[in-house]
Amino acid sequence: MSLAGQSFTWIRKTLRSAAHCVLLLAALIASLPTPAAAQSSTTAAMPANRYAAADDWWKHSVIYELYPRSFADSNNDGTGDLNGITAHLDYLQQLGVDAVWLTPMFPSPQVDFGYDVSDYRNVDPQYGTLKDFDRLVSEARKRNIKIVLDFVVNHSSDQHKWFKESRSSRTNRYRDFYIWRDGRAANEPPNNWRSLFGGPSWKLDATTGQYYYHFFYPEQPDLNWRNPKVEREMFNTMRWWFKRGVYGFRLDAVDVLYEDPKLKDNPILEGTDSYGGPKQDHIYDHSIPEVHAALQRMRKVVDEYPGRVLIGETWTSTTKELAEYYGPHNDELQMPMYFNFTTINKLDAEKFRERIEAVETNDAGGWPVFVLSNHDIVRQVDRYTPAGADKDQVGRLLAALYLTLRGTPIMYMGEELGMRNNDPTRREDVKDIIGRLAWPKDKGRDGERTPMQWDATVNAGFNTGAATWLPVGADYKTRNVAAESADPASVLNWYRRLIALRRTVPALSEGDYRTLPVSDKNLLAFSRTAMGKTVVVLLNMSGEEQSVSLADVAPRGLRGLAATAATVSGAQVKLSAYGAVVAEVE
Ligand code: GLC
Repeated sequence: MSLAGQSFTWIRKTLRSAAHCVLLLAALIASLPTPAAAQSSTTAAMPANRYAAADDWWKHSVIYELYPRSFADSNNDGTGDLNGITAHLDYLQQLGVDAVWLTPMFPSPQVDFGYDVSDYRNVDPQYGTLKDFDRLVSEARKRNIKIVLDFVVNHSSDQHKWFKESRSSRTNRYRDFYIWRDGRAANEPPNNWRSLFGGPSWKLDATTGQYYYHFFYPEQPDLNWRNPKVEREMFNTMRWWFKRGVYGFRLDAVDVLYEDPKLKDNPILEGTDSYGGPKQDHIYDHSIPEVHAALQRMRKVVDEYPGRVLIGETWTSTTKELAEYYGPHNDELQMPMYFNFTTINKLDAEKFRERIEAVETNDAGGWPVFVLSNHDIVRQVDRYTPAGADKDQVGRLLAALYLTLRGTPIMYMGEELGMRNNDPTRREDVKDIIGRLAWPKDKGRDGERTPMQWDATVNAGFNTGAATWLPVGADYKTRNVAAESADPASVLNWYRRLIALRRTVPALSEGDYRTLPVSDKNLLAFSRTAMGKTVVVLLNMSGEEQSVSLADVAPRGLRGLAATAATVSGAQVKLSAYGAVVAEVE
């Protein structure tokens, strides 16, 4: 069973940083299909996305996960804010981002940095006001960027007015908004369930002498989705944001929306969790089938507003389970996230191939949604780069993988710069409670949440000098938007080039996927075909040079569209260590 929090822990392994590498930027840039895509400096205009106004825009998009605390701090108080995002929309447009998923910016005591919402219909003052939000939406719209919100559906903050009412008496009208039970004996919670964030999932509340349920922190009590009033409130909240111009929601922790009605004990597994408690198999507090009926009802709400989309934080171990989230008639989530790339954690071409094929052929025929990183897991270059290899080159390789597949990539802020994890070294510096509770086994999620690196000025241009809520990465003087924009070989310009190709080459935006047979197990090769045109993608997942002939596929040769650490000549492709090629069959 793959659970969000367990995954956070599983993959938290730090790889030694790269020594150095040879980077061959191929001379293929000149053969890019459009003048705009052929240029590699900031002055190159990103080609328009011709699907921007379509109802299924999300199938032809690159979605950018943006963590507002860490993006840009417009008022220099140390924490990012909405006006900071608005000020950088040109950057996102230039990158070729079609939609921005904002992690929670609602009022919150910030115990879990916004994933503990105390009011679903407002903006936390530290991020701005509803007016700032409206301005962000309208400025984004001018640039053809859609705003998607993070909807924390499973739980609220214990400071939400519903919970304050709910805990005040057993007969309060909000009592059933949450899950209250008697203990099974004196000082014994109702069952053995353990919270993903450590300790029992039940907290005894002195006022009424009952326990309430929390899958995450005690400050995040679970909402009771079996109460139709909860559902109505949440659905009306969605409508309220849709009317404000929001294009969709990423549903947080949707796989734990329901619990077993009988609250059966979870089986105990061998070993301990990160917090030193007993490990358990979360079969009764996770993936309870009732979630699907609720999602079908939710989808009806979404369908009241054309072109709106539901994205799910769906940690599933099999594509069969994933397929269920699309719904029996594609009537649940349009975009359940496919997290199975995030758990490979090494450059294993066979595993990637297997997993691509699995999602390509999912039972629901659902549109694949690819994720490599997010605000909960160590940055991809740290997880995937083999010891001694160049993290930037691996960053380019991974981008070439998931920006050319059939499906929608959801990228995480800063990966386009090749940003590294910037983990705390002392427990007293840790901000994320996971890190404080589980130190040193788990350092928490601060490392992947440090401020965006804009330029070489103070605090990387995140603000104008006030102490930042998390430290700025030590490499910011060279790894920043300004420096990388000026460098044609930068990770940033590689992202721009690939995204421009997605927008201009139909085989990449809508083509079928086909695995290509390869001569070496470290090579991943596939083709995409649309309108009689085929594009091939070759990815060398090893430190060894690879020479490949694609004469069978491309008897008249290949035309390079983008290449890094690789060259193309006729049907012959040479890839250096971790090289990647995107080429069109002539
Ligand atoms: C999701 C979020 C994570 C949060 C948790 C509880 O997994 O991505 O950041 O801590 O839900 O809301």
